[in-house]
Amino acid sequence: MTLAYLNGEFKPLAEASVNVLDRGFTFGDGVYEVMPVFNRMIFRFDEHVRRLENSLQAIYMTNPYAAEQWLSILQKLVSSVEQTEQSIYLQITRGVTDRDHAISLAKNPTIFAMSRAVEKKNFAAGINAITHEDIRWQYCAIKAITLLPSVLLRHKAKEQGASEAILIRDTYVTEGAASNVFICKDNKILTPPKNNHVLPGITRDLLIEILDKHNIAYAEMPVSEAALLAADEVWLTSSTWEIVPVVQLDNKPVGSGKPGPVWHTANLLYQKFKRSYCC
Ligand code: PDD
Repeated sequence: MTLAYLNGEFKPLAEASVNVLDRGFTFGDGVYEVMPVFNRMIFRFDEHVRRLENSLQAIYMTNPYAAEQWLSILQKLVSSVEQTEQSIYLQITRGVTDRDHAISLAKNPTIFAMSRAVEKKNFAAGINAITHEDIRWQYCAIKAITLLPSVLLRHKAKEQGASEAILIRDTYVTEGAASNVFICKDNKILTPPKNNHVLPGITRDLLIEILDKHNIAYAEMPVSEAALLAADEVWLTSSTWEIVPVVQLDNKPVGSGKPGPVWHTANLLYQKFKRSYCC
């Protein structure tokens, strides 16, 4: 039976519920993580916990558990799911208080986690994306549960037959609505640097680590909208998507209109790393 973890207890997911005065519900006052699970192993666990800690600190909260405690909770959730390929979702809100903005009222966080089976994805053919103004706030490095702009952006992409919106702020690429962006031009790989407009993606950082290890040239530098539109290849990274080639952007083909050779190499190395880690 698929279990959920809620405030110290494991229970069937369908039976887990929270108070309507939870600040996650009334204010979107909380943070979250999504961790991929391959072959029942939590991929890049330490990195995800570190980012969770940074997100909590940025909203004046502390991590309720040490990394080992998180690991034992999450492993129990993973064990409760039949399939080996999963995705963990965990969320910490500031807890239940009167509907009052003051954070000093909050005494006990609400801690929730679950793991769900994921379908094997096949992105080998690539996806379509649109560009859109980055309508989000100035604290995008925090993995906040307040995701209405991202939800609307994904919906706008869907309305135009695409799967993701690549966001532009002041003529520069920040990231996708729920992914990081890489481009490749004349075999040079570029990705926007991490700052307050970009979530420090775990997959992004791992890809950079892998490129580094294999002496494949890349640069973390601002990517203009013009450079994005002129790129030979565009890739998106996330824990759920891994590395996905964008083959159509704003209804125009990216490069040849097919996943490019540099993506093939990067993806192969990424998959190899994953297998060495999880199998
Ligand atoms: N989102 N940027 C944004 C805005 C994101 O929401 C995500 C991931 C990423 C990629 O980060 P990572 O490689 O650590 O998954 C970048 C998750 C998957 C989500 O919200 O479901």
